[in-house]
Amino acid sequence: MNDLFQRLLNRLDGGLQVLPDKPEETPDSALRALWHTVAGQPCSAGAAMRRPLPSIETVPHAEHALERLVERRLQGEPLAYLTGRQQFMGLEMLSAPGALIPRAETELLAWAAVELLREIPGEPIAIDVCTGSGNIAYAMAWDAPRARVMGGDISGAALALARENGRLLGLGDRLDLRLGDLLEPFDEAPLRGRVDLITCAPPYIQSHKVGAMAAEISEHEPREAFDGGPLGVTLLLRLVEDAPNLLRAGGWLAFEVGNGQGPAMSRRLQRDGNYHEVRELTDAGGVVRALLARRA
Ligand SMILES: C[S@@+](CC[C@H](N)C(=O)[O-])C[C@H]1O[C@@H](n2cnc3c(N)ncnc32)[C@H](O)[C@@H]1O
Repeated sequence: MNDLFQRLLNRLDGGLQVLPDKPEETPDSALRALWHTVAGQPCSAGAAMRRPLPSIETVPHAEHALERLVERRLQGEPLAYLTGRQQFMGLEMLSAPGALIPRAETELLAWAAVELLREIPGEPIAIDVCTGSGNIAYAMAWDAPRARVMGGDISGAALALARENGRLLGLGDRLDLRLGDLLEPFDEAPLRGRVDLITCAPPYIQSHKVGAMAAEISEHEPREAFDGGPLGVTLLLRLVEDAPNLLRAGGWLAFEVGNGQGPAMSRRLQRDGNYHEVRELTDAGGVVRALLARRA
């Protein structure tokens, strides 16, 4: 077992290209996650580092299965799609082609959303649009247990995975998931002017740059999760326009922006009479990666 582990670790050490937006992945964490997967206990790279390595001695063809997974990883298949797991805000979640793999950088937005919800008394209403696998929505439901959380996405495949995540996390009854374009599935009388928080991690890559992204992303993750239109901010501009219809006075719009989009989107919000307080959230490098705006 140790010989096999060492041999495959050397293989990954020599050839694995890890993308900067998956900082939890190393040759060691990737191999451990794949090992758990072959053992029938699939888990993310983050979880694999905290769990003892299970025995695979009794698993039929385990060595061959592990070698195949390592090769597929070296060929550029994302680890989360091979294991079927990805961690977000400490929650171990399902991951599958058809939905974006949640990124650690999105936790900046999710933590801010949780903090806002915890400050609101009663049962605050939160809507997560572009919910994908439901990661932000479930993090809000988990970490802000009083909140009534809804999620929406235009992709049926993403929503199907979000539903499965509800079952895995035991939070299925906490989330109202709706298929449709941006806020349209939530535009109904009981919600208009009543929503406390709208969150969104939108597609924000400029259309002409999507094909030039790392092959591990562009060849495996769904294009609709990245393509933000000619300037990258098509959906964000619509969201800024449409959110006031649903937000109560004092409610919050909170969204992620791409690297470099923060200052212009912040100015757009500050110019808009529908919002009266704008907060910029920066990453460790000082780059604005999320914006919070309060409904006037
Ligand atoms: C960048 S991914 C974010 C997924 C997830 N929230 C996360 O943090 O990983 C963007 C998501 O927006 C969805 N999407 C794209 N256009 C949309 C639209 N017009 N209305 C609703 N969802 C949309 C995509 O299907 C994808 O799931």
